[in-house]
Amino acid sequence: TTGGTDDQKRRAGERAAELVADGDVVGLGSGSTAAYAIRAIGRATADGLTVRGIPTSFDSRRLARESGIPICSLGEVDGVDVAIDGADRIDADHHLIKGGGAAHAREKVVDAAADRFVVVADPSKTVETLSHPVPVEVLPEAYAAVERDVEDLGGGATLRRGEAKDGPVVTDNGNLVLDCAFGRIDDPRGLARRLSGVPGVVEHGLFVDLADTVYVGTDDGVERLE
Ligand code: A5P
Repeated sequence: TTGGTDDQKRRAGERAAELVADGDVVGLGSGSTAAYAIRAIGRATADGLTVRGIPTSFDSRRLARESGIPICSLGEVDGVDVAIDGADRIDADHHLIKGGGAAHAREKVVDAAADRFVVVADPSKTVETLSHPVPVEVLPEAYAAVERDVEDLGGGATLRRGEAKDGPVVTDNGNLVLDCAFGRIDDPRGLARRLSGVPGVVEHGLFVDLADTVYVGTDDGVERLE
């Protein structure tokens, strides 16, 4: 969704897929970078690796099926060994903004459930401090009230609209998305807590203290951020 190249994304996704071990339950993230990891896991499955994948979106479910990865849901497993997912922005502390694809609610549930959450990205995603608008999934009934609450928190909310559709984007869960601009986010933990406290918010795209490992694909390799 941003300026990275396909090769950068592919290197990050394929490196992360190498972490998947036989017997693992794997969280399958959404977006173009995670898609490279899903395809690589699919190829490993064809070569004999036994895994079960938990998709985080309509698209990742479809890609997992096409790639030959057996799928299950979070309710059927005792835990998730590793989740591999993309991000829209990654700050110096590895806090993330996700939800560019409006999939962040299920992504957060699966990524947070994983023993190890691996973020895959291209260099255009890394920043010192987060300032990108925060996607907030809201109950359709609540969007105007949430817009006002976001204003009270010092932000500006824009209802996300579809490109190939009149009217708002509707998430895989049947909800709407407000893109909430707060300028520079100096206290991601505090903002995350406040957004979670707004009635009608299903989930917001601030992923605080969740990422364990970050792989950034470059033009000649993969950088692991410490
Ligand atoms: C989906 O809602 C997002 O959180 C994606 O994970 C994020 O937008 C990354 O996508 P790309 O890898 O396509 O940039």
